[in-house]
Amino acid sequence: MKKITIAIDGHSSCGKSTMAKSLAKALNYIYVDTGAMYRAVTLYALRAGLMDAETKEIDTERLASQMDEVNISFEHDEAGRMQTVLNGENVEKEIRGMTVSNCVSPIAALSFVREHLVALQQKMGLEGGIVMDGRDIGTVVFPNADLKVFVTASPEVRAQRRLLELQGKGDTTTTFAEVLKNVEERDYIDSHREVSPLRQAEDAVLLDNSNLTIPQQDELLLKWAMDCIED
Ligand code: DC
Repeated sequence: MKKITIAIDGHSSCGKSTMAKSLAKALNYIYVDTGAMYRAVTLYALRAGLMDAETKEIDTERLASQMDEVNISFEHDEAGRMQTVLNGENVEKEIRGMTVSNCVSPIAALSFVREHLVALQQKMGLEGGIVMDGRDIGTVVFPNADLKVFVTASPEVRAQRRLLELQGKGDTTTTFAEVLKNVEERDYIDSHREVSPLRQAEDAVLLDNSNLTIPQQDELLLKWAMDCIED
């Protein structure tokens, strides 16, 4: 069976990585979470004292000169979960924390960071058999991907899902209005940044999962992928 390249882009908090992961598993493909790569560079910059977590100021000159020293890879833990590795260290937990989350946007807006990571991502996809999720996969990383999916859901649905997630982690103070504001702000920043803004590729299929359950969306995605593979 031919091994295709699948690009999954879309808004934040719409479950892109959940669906990309289960699609990769169903097809026995490699899954690459490109957001984790931008997060790993952010952690590197913070640890090296090249970014101030408060002011978000970045020493771009020094960071640019050190990009070749930033090695990012992925490995599986015993439970089969994907772990992000930065220069030999498992940083999966740290890159999901609030400090990195709050600092990643300005790092992801730097063109030299994007060039470096896009080159790495393209190398990972050379052989096909890959599901990659992010913001610019169908537009920049793999403009010739066999299947491009652009995922979205209404801001209200995404805010509600995020709120439930936060509450599940014990957060009892954040309100729906606060989460909704954050979702709308992130949409604006992602789609208005100068370098590689988030936009739907012309040949991408739109998947609005506002009213879909996870099994329904997995089934739909797998069908699209199989149609492509058998084509
Ligand atoms: O998907 P995520 O929240 O882990 O992404 C982290 C940040 O990286 C987010 O600010 C968007 C950015 N990003 C990007 O600019 N391009 C990608 N291909 C993936 C993520």
